[in-house]
Amino acid sequence: MRQNIKFVRDGKTVELTNVDPNETLLDYLRLTEGSCGTKEGCGEGDCGACTVAVGSIQDGQLEYQAVNSCIQLLGMLDGKEVITVDDLSKGQDGLHPVQDAMLKHHGSQCGFCTPGIVMSLFTLYHTEKAADRNSINNQLAGNLCRCTGYRPIIDAALESCTGSAEDRFSESLEATTALLKKLDDGEDLFVGDEERFFAAPASISSLAQLYETHTDAIIVAGATDVGLWITKQLRDLPKIIHLGRVKCLDLIKDNGDEIIIGASATYAQALDSLTSIDPDVAEVIRRIGSTQVRASGTIGGNIANGSPIGDSPPLLIALDAKLTLQKGNKTREIDLEDFFVDYGKQDRVAGEFVSQVRIPKLAPSQTLRSYKISKRFDQDISAALAAFRFTHDNGIISEARIAYGGMAATPKRATETEKTLVGMDLNNSNDWQKAIAALELDFKPMSDMRASAEYRMDAAKGLLIKALHETSGIPTTNTRVIGIREAV
Ligand SMILES: Cc1cc2nc3c(=O)[nH]c(=O)nc-3n(C[C@H](O)[C@H](O)[C@H](O)COP(=O)(O)OP(=O)(O)OC[C@H]3O[C@@H](n4cnc5c(N)ncnc54)[C@H](O)[C@@H]3O)c2cc1C
Ligand code: FES
Ligand code: FES
Repeated sequence: MRQNIKFVRDGKTVELTNVDPNETLLDYLRLTEGSCGTKEGCGEGDCGACTVAVGSIQDGQLEYQAVNSCIQLLGMLDGKEVITVDDLSKGQDGLHPVQDAMLKHHGSQCGFCTPGIVMSLFTLYHTEKAADRNSINNQLAGNLCRCTGYRPIIDAALESCTGSAEDRFSESLEATTALLKKLDDGEDLFVGDEERFFAAPASISSLAQLYETHTDAIIVAGATDVGLWITKQLRDLPKIIHLGRVKCLDLIKDNGDEIIIGASATYAQALDSLTSIDPDVAEVIRRIGSTQVRASGTIGGNIANGSPIGDSPPLLIALDAKLTLQKGNKTREIDLEDFFVDYGKQDRVAGEFVSQVRIPKLAPSQTLRSYKISKRFDQDISAALAAFRFTHDNGIISEARIAYGGMAATPKRATETEKTLVGMDLNNSNDWQKAIAALELDFKPMSDMRASAEYRMDAAKGLLIKALHETSGIPTTNTRVIGIREAV
């Protein structure tokens, strides 16, 4: 068992023994290390001012990802490299190419957002593909600038992120890779004592044992929810068990007719596999948070938090996903829809954790449609999310699985609506009215700051009509303003 946290900063391994389980990376950088280039804006993962680059080994290669340091716990960085804006031009004659381009295109005015924007672009600079307007917009969706305006920033990105990185980080790629591989020692990590600790077990059996012993501990996957409990709710979480070092828990496997996603796999890691199910799955995932949130957040966390407005649960319920839970050495599998018992209540006993989710692919006779309704297109929590899986032959529906988020206390199936659709002729739009009316039997949504109950019900009906239109192929006006399916 290792009792210190190790990560790479500026080409050297940092070792820390005295780490509080609630300490954030941002606080460490600014308050302990004195690297004040990284800024604190919202403190909740929304603005991107605190963005840093985190390097880790993925399939044997060093990859950089932009993360929000305000909601990363320091211990989560074990085994990784951290690069901040303070590091970019060290040892070089001038600025980093991304900084140079920002200067040339006047991409900064007050400058508060600039360190975060530069670090987001730094990770884009280190991807192998030349950036285009879409990839830049996607990369910067989690970086807010309130005074410069985005055009000059996008121009700077177009000029500098050309797909061929030539900076001091690419020059030291081999040395950094070797350092990171050395840090991957396969040992359980436990910093602190029995009352207050940050733990990062290295195997599923160690995780299961530790969580059974400390059932009051908080499991942390990407901390994109838990981080806010600390920074916004000011909660003290004395015992943290982080999943990020558990071997094989980040498994992503394509079994031919299903995809298996391990509980610690991030959205970013799972995106390609999920895209193979349907473009709408990819579009829902791509609209979760921002690049920074998707680099840390997990589907496992999105399920386990039990939120009625999590984006992936309704989608996965419509796809008939199965959830595997583990306690000690015992595992059990349940239908994902049964996991959500009531508001704030899930089918999970003390010491039990989510280990994976199995997602069936679509059969040739099945069509999936999924839509997210939020006030902003990017970086926003849903007011409602609807997912539809229709099994149909010659225009006749033989099975419908429909699930909504934001319409009840849990992500929930529209069972009454589903019943009315079985046997229905997709090409006869007059028949649709019965199904649309049945939504009123399935849901009594509430009003909150995201949407009123009336709006939610209207939107739910509209989304059902849209799904039926798109599945039937009945000529209609364009049903998509924007979205991946439009492009295929
Ligand atoms: C800026 C921002 C934007 C966001 N946008 C969206 C959005 O658009 N859509 C959306 O759905 N969500 C959004 N979220 C919420 C969050 O990103 C997701 O819920 C995410 O999937 C949580 O995953 P995580 O790995 O970060 O979970 P964590 O924060 O690590 O954990 C979340 C909860 O699940 C528990 N947990 C995690 N993993 C397990 C496990 N394997 N077994 C048992 N319990 C576990 C934790 O104890 C905790 O209670 C956003 C968050 C932020 C900060
Ligand atoms: S300070 Fe706003 S995202 Fe971290
Ligand atoms: S330059 Fe002022 S917020 Fe972006």
